[in-house]
This record gives sequence, C-alpha cells and structure tokens, in this order.
Amino acid sequence: MPRPPPKKDLLSISDVAAELPSLLARAAQLKEERAAGVRSATLPGRNLGMIFEKPSTRTRTSFEVAINDLGGHAIYLSTKDLQLGRGETIADTARVLSRYCDALAYRAFRHSDMLELARWASIPVINALDDLEHPCQIVADLLTMSERWSGRFGGKRVAWIGDGNNVLHSLLLGAAAVGLDLTAATPAQYRPHPEVLAAAQELARRSGATLRLTTDPAKAADGANALYTDVWVSMGDEAEQAARERAFQNFQVNKELLAKAAPDAFVLHDLPAHRGQEITDEVLDGPRSAAWDQAENRLHAQKAILERLLPGPRLAGRSRRGS
Ligand code: CP
Ligand code: NVA
Repeated sequence: MPRPPPKKDLLSISDVAAELPSLLARAAQLKEERAAGVRSATLPGRNLGMIFEKPSTRTRTSFEVAINDLGGHAIYLSTKDLQLGRGETIADTARVLSRYCDALAYRAFRHSDMLELARWASIPVINALDDLEHPCQIVADLLTMSERWSGRFGGKRVAWIGDGNNVLHSLLLGAAAVGLDLTAATPAQYRPHPEVLAAAQELARRSGATLRLTTDPAKAADGANALYTDVWVSMGDEAEQAARERAFQNFQVNKELLAKAAPDAFVLHDLPAHRGQEITDEVLDGPRSAAWDQAENRLHAQKAILERLLPGPRLAGRSRRGS
C-alpha cells in the first residue's frame, strides 16, 4: 500500500506561506456558505485535541465551533487538568494524544515547547499562539484586509503600532508572503526578533513587499491603509508590566493617530483589548474599527486551516494503515 503523506504542522505562518491565497479563498467561501445557512461536514468524525496553557476566548471558541461545523469534535485540554501540569513530558503527552486525536491545537508559553510537541506528535500540530507567533490570527487578519481591499494586497500598507510581539512576528511573515507592505512602529527595546525579521525580509524579496521598522508611530501611520495594534503586555510578560506601560505611552491608536492614515484606513486589533492603553474606546467602537470582523473571521480561517491540515476521510472498512 502507498504510505500516507507526512503530517503537516502549522507552527509558523511561514509553514503555509505559499498556500495563503488558497486558504483565504477557502475561508471566504466557507464564510459565504455559513451566511447562507450551509455547513459542509468535510471533516466527519475528526477529533481535535486542544491543549491550552493560557486563557483564550476567540481561539478556543472559534476552533471548537469550526470543527463542530465541519462534522468533527473538539476536546479542550487545560494544562491545569492534564498530567502535563504534574510533570508528564510533552513528548509522552504527544505520543499518547496522537493515538486518540486527528490533530492538536496548542497554546503554549514557549515556542520551544510547541516544537517539542510537533516533534513527538504523529498528527498535525497547530500553533494556537505562543511567545513567538500567532499564525491562525494572521490568516483571519489577512482575510479581513482582503475583504476590504477586494482581494488585493499589492499597493496597500499596514502600520503596526506597539509591541514587537508574537502577533507582529506572524504579521510580518504573512504580509511578506502575500506582498503587503508593512511599517512597524515599536519602542527601540521592543523591536521584533531579528531572525523573524530576516525570514520575513526573505519572503518579501520574493513577493516584492516592503517591510520597515521605526520608533515613531506617526511616521508609520502616515498614509497607511490600515493600523494594527495589540496589547502592551502579552500573556507571560506580566512581570514587565510597569516598564512596558512606560515604554508604550505614545503607542496608542487614537483618533489623532488615525487622522494621519489614509482617509479610508481601518483599524485592526486581535483582541482582547486593553481599552485606554493601546487603543481608545472611541476608535475600537467607532465606524473604522475592523476588530469585530477580525474576531468573526477567526472562525472561517480556522475551518480552512483544519481542512488543509487534517487527513481526508478514511475509506470505509479500512484501518489507518489501509490493511
Ligand atoms: N486573539 C486571540 O487569540 O484571542 P484569544 O486570546 O481570546 O484566543
Ligand atoms: N500578544 C497577545 C495576543 C493575545 C491574543 C498575547 O500574546 O497575549
């Protein structure tokens, strides 16, 4: 019998760089179908294990609803309840869960733990956020931008205002992959990781996208087609809260900053928002906020991701090995 194809993980947005256009097209199609009341069960009986070390509202719920809509089932596994929380290794957990589930979504503190889970799991592992990346978020964000720009990224520019964090890392790689220009304004000490930036620059060389860094939010916002911000203090950075609140004082998306952007520019925020810090109520709740569409698009994006990574339906009457 032919061997099954090797499993595919989504640990970084760069793992699906070449597939982003087709993922976005499929997510848009699934969104239309859902609006028309159609739910195609393309993953019947599939089980998605979801290991979460940190809280989540959007990622957890959108993954659960996504796999349910596709005819499968989700199992939420908090590390507080798993033996992982009592010292069982990631490798052993991965090997056991691979015997039950068809894929694992993992929200981790450390990217090294994400890599360890993927190394030992024989099933696809999906990064549901760690300290280095948040790839699923960016698939939803690119869908949101593409909807507002009639499917075209060329000639558009997004300005990032804030921390050089996991969301910015995936945005840099995702924007570079699809040919979207990006200017990131961060305090000098909170720039994105140089290795991620170098990988994004390599993708940008191929797509023609321009990626720039600055420490001046006004410079980044000037003429931008979208402003994107995120919390000043990410999950896991709480010990640095006071220093970060000082460093990010001028990195707020407010109506003055938005006035510098293109007249039809919109505002992105992955949420949860810390209102009054990185974004004002007026902007987040205002007519130019795309944050609620972004949150909705997590659902449609997760479905496209799950369909891409999970093995297709098995032939009736045959075991996994086809014997
Ligand atoms: N944007 C996002 O990932 O939100 P949650 O932390 O609620 O999942
Ligand atoms: N940068 C934020 C994103 C939350 C969805 C964090 O890691 O906490």
